[in-house]
Amino acid sequence: MNVITAKTAGFCFGVERAMKILYDRIEQNDFPLYTYGPIIHNETVVKELEEKGVGVLESAEDIAALTEGTVVIRTHGVGPEICGIIESNGLKLVDATCPFVKKIHHIVSEKAAEGYRILIAGDPAHPEVRGIVGWCGNARVDVVGTVEAIEDLDASDDEKICFVSQTTFNAKKFKELVEVCEKKSYTCYVVDTICNATNERQEEARDIASKADVMIVIGGRNSSNTRKLYEICSESCKDTYFVQTLEDFTFRRNGLARTVGITAGASTPNNIIKEVQNYVRRFWTDA
Ligand code: F3S
Repeated sequence: MNVITAKTAGFCFGVERAMKILYDRIEQNDFPLYTYGPIIHNETVVKELEEKGVGVLESAEDIAALTEGTVVIRTHGVGPEICGIIESNGLKLVDATCPFVKKIHHIVSEKAAEGYRILIAGDPAHPEVRGIVGWCGNARVDVVGTVEAIEDLDASDDEKICFVSQTTFNAKKFKELVEVCEKKSYTCYVVDTICNATNERQEEARDIASKADVMIVIGGRNSSNTRKLYEICSESCKDTYFVQTLEDFTFRRNGLARTVGITAGASTPNNIIKEVQNYVRRFWTDA
């Protein structure tokens, strides 16, 4: 019986950094302390932070209602209007936006100022994308996810288009969309802003799932990068499980299984991965 745990499972660079920034604030006793949205998509971690006194603000109205405190911006980043509300209310802003997301903000705001129309490959409802849209100034912005959306783009032939992607967008799909866009006669400025951490995690997950009889993907239900990992693993391994913690793990033993693969999304703490790993080893040995 073989258990393969992905080397890329767990916190990515940006999440690790954001957690450190937040814990530094806790250590400095910088209360009242809030995060704008949960710092990571992991209920257990958010609950632990709540017990330490870290509040979660859900909306711009929540921020506007505050008169004192520190607001930590999570890895997804925010648009300038949120920064404006924090600052104009006399609150302290601590920016834990992932530097890779920050880079997208810089690209779109620069290109928008140069008169480009902005295309973002991603999910329009995702906070990262909403933040990026905020940095596009007065430029026309389209959030696209399909080849059809590019085909149907209401754009003139001489349009200048800057095309970026949400950091967690599927790399293969982005390539497809870019190919369609470049076939048109627009002036295209394309920057592949998909994060390497996501790419590497997806590749490793695909590779392990192709060798595994059972595959376990650990991560928050609201985490889009974990959902994508689950999709990728399910393509090569039909016995793929999506679990948030060990508690919701209902493992149906597959008697023929010889290899179990484990991977986890970017906001899954190491201790949860270890717990699942130990459980699988024990379960299989005792069964
Ligand atoms: Fe940043 Fe990439 Fe993680 S964009 S938050 S390092 S997945």
